[in-house]
Amino acid sequence: MTETKELSSKHILGIKDLTAAEIQLIFNTAKNFKEVINRPIKKVPSLRDVTIANLFFEDSTRTRISFELAEKRLSADVVNFSASSSSVKKGETLLDTVNNILSMKVDMIVMRHPAPGACSFLSQNINANIINAGDGTHEHPTQALLDAFSMLEVFPDLKNKNVLIAGDIKHSRVALSNIFCLKKLGANVKVCGPPTLIPKFIQKLGVEVEYDIKKALEWCDVANVLRIQLERQEIKYIPSLREYSQYFGINKKLLNSLGKKITIMHPGPINRGVEISSDVADSDQSIILQQVENGVAIRMAVLYLLAGKRL
Ligand code: CP
Repeated sequence: MTETKELSSKHILGIKDLTAAEIQLIFNTAKNFKEVINRPIKKVPSLRDVTIANLFFEDSTRTRISFELAEKRLSADVVNFSASSSSVKKGETLLDTVNNILSMKVDMIVMRHPAPGACSFLSQNINANIINAGDGTHEHPTQALLDAFSMLEVFPDLKNKNVLIAGDIKHSRVALSNIFCLKKLGANVKVCGPPTLIPKFIQKLGVEVEYDIKKALEWCDVANVLRIQLERQEIKYIPSLREYSQYFGINKKLLNSLGKKITIMHPGPINRGVEISSDVADSDQSIILQQVENGVAIRMAVLYLLAGKRL
């Protein structure tokens, strides 16, 4: 892999646009920031005088708090915007909203939006760095980066590691960004879920499909477990959550039957007792809270690298 010292784009819109070398640069930078945030004094002055607006048009716990903490650890000035308490409710367009915020001398935008492509649209129409914090069912690049970074704390390399993504693949931006990221890093990727929740084109991304969760778990070194996104399902894709849990839920009994110990991940929010049982989510096989911890370091790295390319 050829090394790089900077990102080629001034935005992070998706993992699809990043090279393996750029992903490695983000990981190397995040490693340094992880050391910083574990010090008694967790703050560095790298983004002093940079103003960042966090625009959340969709609910979030982890991503919103993680970006805000990352920005504050880097000494940036931070403003938070939540669509539910804004003039969006009075009919203001996305572009008008963002242009008004930018006229108050904001340098960078972190945005979560329910519309796939919303961040890409903004990047073509405004004059600020954009970081995609999740755009509908499309991409969630910083989640995939923190997921792969967390896997690399378990394994020295992801080349030829078997990674399973299990659950609602169809509606998941985490799945798509993870697939792009893991394939770029040389991992083998398999998806598993009910046929109605597996997109028909998925094999074109170099991904295998398995509908039997036990077989899929027997194959993998790591299972990244996703929730069923009922809020994005206008029609019923599964008969009931109870049946989903019965056929695809990951519980301790199932894991104990594998004859090997795999690593369990979940991007959150967890629906305990549906896609994952509590005795798995809270077990020593789970690195779910390490993922959340690493999210701050990854987002510091992305913000820091993009700030070097300010417009
Ligand atoms: N993983 C993730 O995006 O969680 P939030 O929706 O809470 O931000």
